[in-house]
Amino acid sequence: GRILTLHGPNLNLLGTREPDIYGRTTLADIHSAMDSRARAEGVVLESFQSNHEGQLIDRAQAAAAEGVDYIIINPAAYTHTSVALRDALAAVSIPYVEVHLSNIHTREPFRHHSYFSDKALGVICGLGAYGYMAALEFLLPRLREHKN
Ligand code: DQA
Repeated sequence: GRILTLHGPNLNLLGTREPDIYGRTTLADIHSAMDSRARAEGVVLESFQSNHEGQLIDRAQAAAAEGVDYIIINPAAYTHTSVALRDALAAVSIPYVEVHLSNIHTREPFRHHSYFSDKALGVICGLGAYGYMAALEFLLPRLREHKN
């Protein structure tokens, strides 16, 4: 099985970016924890971060050809703006879990709406870096049942 994790803009700064909101865990820490968990299950996990909307769209499109089974996505600020990235996920029809480190519902009103949630398998927010691991744990047995 294959899982792609997509991280949107400014998530490359995790660890130092507004740590009171986003925590002190870096993206590299998140990726290595997820990667070792996935490897133990024989799952290939790839992680891609970009500050550019079009690059995230290109990566989502490429995932279909690569046979990616599931996507874990934190679209970051594009959560609240990007019809284009939403459409890309719909176009490839790869099921996805949406993750946010912070609880977007307790923050500014413009963060309350997501262009991704209504099409997601599920949405995790407010659990910090653990949210990514929770998404992975949710997907691993599904990969076992449906693919391997
Ligand atoms: C975020 C929440 C978004 O509102 C924000 O723009 C981000 C990160 C989160 O993980 O909590 O960049 O997606």
